[in-house]
Amino acid sequence: MNLQMVDLRGQYLAMKDEMDAALQEVLASTQFINGPEVGKFECELAGYLGGSYVLGVANGTDALQVAFMALGIGPGDEVITPAFTFIATAEAAALLGAVPVFCDIDPKTFNLDPNRLEALITPKTKAIVPVHLFGQPADMDPILEIARRHGLYVVEDNAQAVGATYKGRHTGFIGHVGTLSFFPSKNLGCYGDGGAILTNDEALYHRMRLIANHGSQRKYHNEVVGVNSRLDALQAAVLRVKLRRLDAYTEARRAAADRYDALFDGIPGLAVPYRDPNGRHVFHQYTLRVAPEVPGGRDGLAAHLKARGIPHAIYYPVPLHRLPVFAGGAAPARYDDLPETDRAAAEVLSLPMHTELTAEQQAYIADAVHAYVRNPKEKSPG
Ligand SMILES: Cc1ncc(COP(=O)(O)O)c(C=O)c1O
Repeated sequence: MNLQMVDLRGQYLAMKDEMDAALQEVLASTQFINGPEVGKFECELAGYLGGSYVLGVANGTDALQVAFMALGIGPGDEVITPAFTFIATAEAAALLGAVPVFCDIDPKTFNLDPNRLEALITPKTKAIVPVHLFGQPADMDPILEIARRHGLYVVEDNAQAVGATYKGRHTGFIGHVGTLSFFPSKNLGCYGDGGAILTNDEALYHRMRLIANHGSQRKYHNEVVGVNSRLDALQAAVLRVKLRRLDAYTEARRAAADRYDALFDGIPGLAVPYRDPNGRHVFHQYTLRVAPEVPGGRDGLAAHLKARGIPHAIYYPVPLHRLPVFAGGAAPARYDDLPETDRAAAEVLSLPMHTELTAEQQAYIADAVHAYVRNPKEKSPG
């Protein structure tokens, strides 16, 4: 059986004619940087997400960096983020000389735990950066309330959750600013690197636009120190074709998640992803938790799947506070014990999740999981 974590080829073939025509049009126009394609995509995405401003940038890491720069985050400032995320969330802050302060997670959602947030705030804190991990919206209301009380910015790292909603609102437009990644495997992915910044704040939007374009609005009239970070027109064309399908893609992911949930129902020691009643999960990943009581645990199950040619991934095996860059002091970071973060890193296992995944493929994957969890001793790896 042809199983993959993501099936970009299958997805491309299903829209080949439309995609090829869109790319051909940009090639013929030779307007590769800025130009109408990028502007159209930014408008269409803002409309889709129900927000005011979208700024295309070169990738999701730059999106965070440009947002932090525009908010004036710099040396010595503290930025509170979860440690159970991709490095980029904290890296963008560290690059600017800011200090990531790691907050533990809610074990149900894998997202920043608002109950642990306030104790981490100091006079140096500038921003809170919740991550909507795996496509699951973070619990935004208490985060916004704490931020409001302390005069802090909220930057949503929405790289994994385009299309998700929290209490009816699209994530990424709930805080002061939100960021997106269009890395090819993301729910809305392009054919290279790409990213975007989202905000309803007009002044902030203009400042971010300035920073992302060498600090200049007019050519040879640079006003501030900026960066070169633009979404290019070919990627914008890809994204416009895919944006028309994003609802269908999200529904396909959610339907696949429902099928997995049913297949794994009642297996002792195995927890399927939590469905927060306040949010619409868009399943960038379908991530199981394997309890340590399951003999062999998560790593035993991973080895069993590997031996059977079933793709899987551990997002994230090493939480940020244990990475050499922060734990070894190459970049400063502040954190206390993060027991839920460590527990999640030891127990999570993500299965294939994409828009082309079939019920038959999922039944095959689930059979292998069942065989291991019910009878781990007989299923030695290899
Ligand atoms: C949570 C999170 N933040 C930031 C990024 C960075 O995005 P990019 O790879 O486009 O720079 C990613 C993805 O790669 C991500 O998953």
